[in-house]
Amino acid sequence: VKRAKITAVGHYLPDERITNHDLEKMVDTNDEWIRTRTGIEERRILRDPEKATSYMAAKAAQEALDERGMKAEEIDLIIVGTVTPDYLFPATACLVQKEIGAENAFAFDLSAACSGFLYALTTGSMYIESGRAKKVLVIGADKMSSILDFTDRTTCILFGDGAGAVILEESEDGTGIIDHKHYTDGDTNCSLYQHAGGSKNPATKETVEAKQHYVRQDGRAVFKKATMGMADVSLEIMERNDLEPDEVAWLVPHQANLRIIDATARRMGLSSEKVMININKYGNTTAATIPLCLYDWKDQLNHGENIVLSAFGGGFTWGAIYLTW
Ligand code: ACO
Repeated sequence: VKRAKITAVGHYLPDERITNHDLEKMVDTNDEWIRTRTGIEERRILRDPEKATSYMAAKAAQEALDERGMKAEEIDLIIVGTVTPDYLFPATACLVQKEIGAENAFAFDLSAACSGFLYALTTGSMYIESGRAKKVLVIGADKMSSILDFTDRTTCILFGDGAGAVILEESEDGTGIIDHKHYTDGDTNCSLYQHAGGSKNPATKETVEAKQHYVRQDGRAVFKKATMGMADVSLEIMERNDLEPDEVAWLVPHQANLRIIDATARRMGLSSEKVMININKYGNTTAATIPLCLYDWKDQLNHGENIVLSAFGGGFTWGAIYLTW
């Protein structure tokens, strides 16, 4: 049986940092509140209005290709997980395909909010396993600053911009993506939403004036569901693969809130040194958090190690992937 393996990781982060102290000047908040409630100290912002999600996604993809010594023409498929596409259509993945010159690839976006990278990684791995694709670029990229209301202290402090990319190829030695489990529970209560800009509430003068094109969320409701969902699915993937806590080398959690991450690790029986955490530096970059962790830790990962990826996000969507490095 064919198995998909991550063979390279790339990333892109804008240079500009916005610290909690910077936000104190914009909304009624303070560094202490943000740090203790979320774990975030600063986040990156792509200020240049000419540059959007596809710019960051293409940079991350190119870095992964360079690391692997692979030409863009070798890529068969590009999947971009994002909720901040450059346009509603064409897909951001199509813009990336052009930008990097992946002329033999077909490309599409996948919308699963903070679970976007995991859903995309699972989808990409199925193309490898079926033999329908040999080399797949899976990208998580979001320019959250483009949909943030910087007068709303309950949302603007949480998010940052960034992108991460991996290359998937057929494993040569049996290591790679072993199992995945995903869930969906349609969020009809509008707990985490961008109300306008789609076909339900097309962008008009009225929707823009009502600021309906910005992210809104019921933080407490999302927090509860995220904590339960991420812990439950992570435990489920461990149990059905007979993984004991001491056999897990790394948990790579979506970075939405340090308290959600800590609760997940605790439920899994993992000590904190096994958990990748960079939310302090980047905030919640939505689909980019997990590949950005893999990038930051890539020199510390050893061949064959057991790794669990886990995410929860808008939709609601959540899931976990078990892989060996
Ligand atoms: N600065 C200062 N005070 C604030 C701020 C702020 N930035 N934001 C809210 N407060 C106030 C509130 O108004 C409230 O005041 P009140 O008690 O007088 O009404 C108080 O702080 C507590 O607010 P809560 O919303 O209860 O605070 P909580 O501890 O739940 O933390 C947070 C809020 C950080 C948003 C948390 O609920 C959370 O992380 N939720 C998960 C949502 C999330 O991360 N969504 C992103 C995408 S989905 C995902 O990735 C999981």
